[in-house]
Amino acid sequence: MNATIFPEKKKHYPVLINEIISIITPQYGGTFIDCTFGQGGYTKRILEYPKTKVIALDRDPESIKISSTLEKKFGKRFYFKNKKFSFLEKMELDKEDINSIIFDLGYSHTQIKDMNKGLSFNSHGDLNMKMGINDFSAKDVIHKLDKNELEKVFKFFGEEKDSKKIASKIIKNREKKKIDTQELVRIIKSSKKTKYYKIHVATKIFQSLRIFVNKEISELIFGLINATKILKPGGKIVVVTFHSLEDKIVKFFFKSLSEKRSISRYMPKINEEDNLFKIINRKPIIPSNKELEENVLSRSAKLRFAIKEKNVLNFEKEILKKFNYLLEIENFSRKL
Ligand SMILES: C[S@@+](CC[C@H](N)C(=O)[O-])C[C@H]1O[C@@H](n2cnc3c(N)ncnc32)[C@H](O)[C@@H]1O
Repeated sequence: MNATIFPEKKKHYPVLINEIISIITPQYGGTFIDCTFGQGGYTKRILEYPKTKVIALDRDPESIKISSTLEKKFGKRFYFKNKKFSFLEKMELDKEDINSIIFDLGYSHTQIKDMNKGLSFNSHGDLNMKMGINDFSAKDVIHKLDKNELEKVFKFFGEEKDSKKIASKIIKNREKKKIDTQELVRIIKSSKKTKYYKIHVATKIFQSLRIFVNKEISELIFGLINATKILKPGGKIVVVTFHSLEDKIVKFFFKSLSEKRSISRYMPKINEEDNLFKIINRKPIIPSNKELEENVLSRSAKLRFAIKEKNVLNFEKEILKKFNYLLEIENFSRKL
């Protein structure tokens, strides 16, 4: 489920990097946007090609340090902003000729190892899960959402089948004392009948809280929408996902905008030329056996990409309608 990976101590493995390079073809030069700079794995590789320029974003202030070494090395060819990628449209990029926009979703190994961020169920102390530029923490979510809201977050963002039971136990326990990271793990364990799991028993609940705290659903949806608006026709959007909910959103976005559509079922389908995207690979690209051998943690990665054919107005309606139920759950945060 986690993203960029460092199984050995020093080596950094940007996931599916060779596949990404062969899709975006930086050898021909151009401007690329790396929406999830992280340790700069993708950016550094693109900048190895002399006629390229990279605009990079990351929400985590920790990325600023790495970005400043690249700024020194590459000067005007590299520009970094400590912003969320939903901010893309507000960056005055209209004069840029954007070739490709890349998203490597989720969190990095460095972030999960940072115990202050509390992304791991091995962390101690207060619940947190903020990746950067956040309004509230997992502690607020666990202590302030009501039972029904917690249950929905766990069920829809984590696909946790014991959501109801876990939400009830949280409500009972939080009346007695503050719930910290290890107390939450204990509550989850005590809600489960079986003691044997393929993945850690708290994985799904922690995933759901991370998605909620970082508003990852609206980030992804508006990230895709805004990327589409600023990309030049012929340009590509490339997305690496790490869990089924992310992949479902990306798949629907590309697929629904690349198929013959009709305005209503009584109207003829519109021409293929009216499609916004062209998809080359229907199936997602996954890591090769060689990559899996070197970096086993890349096993859940899925890469999808689409080529923008033309500018189309109001294309965002469909995706907003389809995933409105998830955006409504994310809106529970209004009271935090
Ligand atoms: C998997 S890592 C990217 C690693 C990068 N590709 C590399 O090779 O070093 C994901 C990064 O995306 C950042 N991130 C996640 N959601 C974001 C968002 N909505 N806006 C900006 N950055 C985000 C995280 O802070 C993290 O650094």
